[in-house]
Amino acid sequence: MENILTIKNLSVSLTGKRGTVPILHDISLEIEAGHILGLVGESGSGKSMTAFAITQLLPGGRNSIVGGSINFCGQELTEKKESELAKFRGKEIAMIFQEPMTCLNPVFTIGRQMTDVIMTHQQKNRTEATSKALEMLEKVHIRNAERVLKRYPYELSGGMRQRVMIAIALSCSPKLLIADEPTTALDVTIQAQIIFLIKEACKASGTGVVFISHDLGVVSQLCDKIAVMYSGKIVEMGTASDVLRDPQHPYTKALLSSIPRFTPKEDADDKLYAIPGMVPDPLEVISGCRFAPRCPYVLDICRKEEPPLKILEEGHCLHCHFQEEVQA
Ligand SMILES: Nc1ncnc2c1ncn2[C@@H]1O[C@H](COP(=O)(O)OP(=O)(O)OP(=O)(O)O)[C@@H](O)[C@H]1O
Ligand SMILES: [Mg+2]
Repeated sequence: MENILTIKNLSVSLTGKRGTVPILHDISLEIEAGHILGLVGESGSGKSMTAFAITQLLPGGRNSIVGGSINFCGQELTEKKESELAKFRGKEIAMIFQEPMTCLNPVFTIGRQMTDVIMTHQQKNRTEATSKALEMLEKVHIRNAERVLKRYPYELSGGMRQRVMIAIALSCSPKLLIADEPTTALDVTIQAQIIFLIKEACKASGTGVVFISHDLGVVSQLCDKIAVMYSGKIVEMGTASDVLRDPQHPYTKALLSSIPRFTPKEDADDKLYAIPGMVPDPLEVISGCRFAPRCPYVLDICRKEEPPLKILEEGHCLHCHFQEEVQA
């Protein structure tokens, strides 16, 4: 299967008041057409920065990329001119975010905003763009689409706004969709509907999806592959079933045991696990494995040497000294 996106050894540093801060370390991942990759990890682990790097919209601009390559359908994005990149964004690479209000313009109707986007990227006049907008709203299962086109963003519920954002994102049939916590602000039933929509759109049109979430439950319902990020690194990656059913990295195991389960209170004998400590500040100098200070299985070598990449079986890989020792 053809890869939509191949990231190799990507490193990102941001320069600001605190000097130059390394944010992403040696990120490598691949996404095939019609596949969904989940990026998970605690707050501050670098999920959004990975998304911004792909779209070349990092806060520090493109100089923030200090190494590695981002290949999108055979084209090296890190070498493209800004004017060329603008053509990719919104058309071939679409994005949706947690709060659609920040992307929708409050002073224009939904119809106006949808047709503007469609007309920017496709050879269509306003009438044709309007019928495309209607078609897209119906695709995301919005009833009374004609009425919704005349509404302003504030007149819609959060779930409806997120559907509109997905309709806009998919209206130009992107090859890659980046969804950064798109369901975090929604209640669970709406969340399930949005997840279903993303899956449907991806499978129907062969769009590759990067789905970012700190919620492993959501990711498990949706993703083909999962990459677990910790402190700017991918610590474990594999098929969703390998990572969720047979996690190997202590951080992945800890994340999984911190998911609440539906056990009646009187039956719940084990308390919910909370990973002690916090994701380190990116400026914090940690030798060896960045998870070592919080890891229950920490060995001497973990504090000295960075764990190398270990490939377990097809596609399932991780960086962990402990796992290596156990196997040995
Ligand atoms: N503009 C910025 N300048 C410098 N550092 C930043 C900037 N924005 C974010 N960071 C830092 O980059 C690191 C990664 O942040 P990122 O937003 O990618 O995390 P995240 O995994 O998306 O977290 P969350 O789940 O909270 O969205 C964090 O340590 C954060 O403090
Ligand atoms: Mg984020």
